[in-house]
Amino acid sequence: MSTEIPKTIKAIQVDKAGGPEVNVLREIPTPVPKDDELLIKVEWTGVNYIDNYFRSGLYPKQFPYTVGQDAVGIVVTLPKNTSTSSVKINIGDKVWTTAGNSFAEYLVAPRDRIALLPKEIDSKDGVSLATQGLTALYLLKESYPAKKGDWVLVRSAAGGVGLILTQIAKHFSVNVIATVSSESKVELVKQNGADHVLLSSDSSESNIKKILELTGGEGVHGVYDGVGKDTWEENFEIVRRKGTIVTYGNASGPVPEFSPLRLSAKALKVTRPTLFAIVKTQQEWDEYTSELVEITKKANIKYAVHKIYNFTAEDVAQAQRDISSRGTTGKLLIKVSSE
Ligand SMILES: NC(=O)c1ccc[n+]([C@@H]2O[C@H](COP(=O)([O-])OP(=O)(O)OC[C@H]3O[C@@H](n4cnc5c(N)ncnc54)[C@H](OP(=O)(O)O)[C@@H]3O)[C@@H](O)[C@H]2O)c1
Repeated sequence: MSTEIPKTIKAIQVDKAGGPEVNVLREIPTPVPKDDELLIKVEWTGVNYIDNYFRSGLYPKQFPYTVGQDAVGIVVTLPKNTSTSSVKINIGDKVWTTAGNSFAEYLVAPRDRIALLPKEIDSKDGVSLATQGLTALYLLKESYPAKKGDWVLVRSAAGGVGLILTQIAKHFSVNVIATVSSESKVELVKQNGADHVLLSSDSSESNIKKILELTGGEGVHGVYDGVGKDTWEENFEIVRRKGTIVTYGNASGPVPEFSPLRLSAKALKVTRPTLFAIVKTQQEWDEYTSELVEITKKANIKYAVHKIYNFTAEDVAQAQRDISSRGTTGKLLIKVSSE
């Protein structure tokens, strides 16, 4: 690997809110790390649904910005400040990160967003560990802390977060009912451990009936819902007394406003977490990343890849169209540079 740092790099940027066509590939000055940041040469990055929320304007973002939420790459420079982390990082180490601006040949990442990628884990899989893997783990540990024998509902279980969530839930000996939108996804989700798979294209009444039957009439202890608007109402029917609705995404649009009184009949809890609010400190980062790596190795978690895209504006636009099409399973990867 050349240690020479170029003055300019290629990056995918967005200048204004719009559809996938607003992604542009351009030459920008190489970002300069602050004292607590590292410079990473990016090998792989990947598409997350949140890229659409920023690009469309649903989530506020200052334009222009460089797209991207996670990457695997090689450490090129170290931070000047001493880190509180017990994990030592050196130049040349392969790392994974949830740092932003990852659709670029180089990115700067805060020290508390960098984890070592062990040799046993494939570089491509390291991208899935980042935003999607950490999200799956925190949802199960903190948002509704699922216990052995609990029943949970995982919506859109063939997606990036969904497939990992299903596998880790099974590792925790939790009973998983999964939903997917098409027959073609059912087998994959079963192979990843789901005990029962329902089609979201079936009627809501029929799915509510099936979920209640499977759970002895009680409903699930927790529902993990990244779909948002379309499934919001159904969640109140399928969650049991004292259960938890975890709404963590807006794939179909944001959920409507509601009164807390809505929760009283079954004494429900609703939580709306984000990765960045849950895994915030260096200690939280070190604990979550090391646990995810350990679970990956111990439970042999499979990180499915939907497709590998080129590092071009056209391919990034296509990948963002694809992830919105409901036809993808697992991770959509972008190869930025060779290993
Ligand atoms: N809060 C957090 O910390 C956090 C972190 C990461 C991701 N997320 C959220 O988690 C969810 C999954 O993210 P991901 O990146 O792993 O994406 P993904 O699940 O790979 O793709 C999105 C999936 O959403 C489902 N979907 C349901 N209704 C849809 C609609 N109207 N339009 C498009 N897709 C729809 C589709 O599966 P089916 O067709 O099978 O339903 C689709 O495959 C997203 O909502 C994302 O924002 C939240």
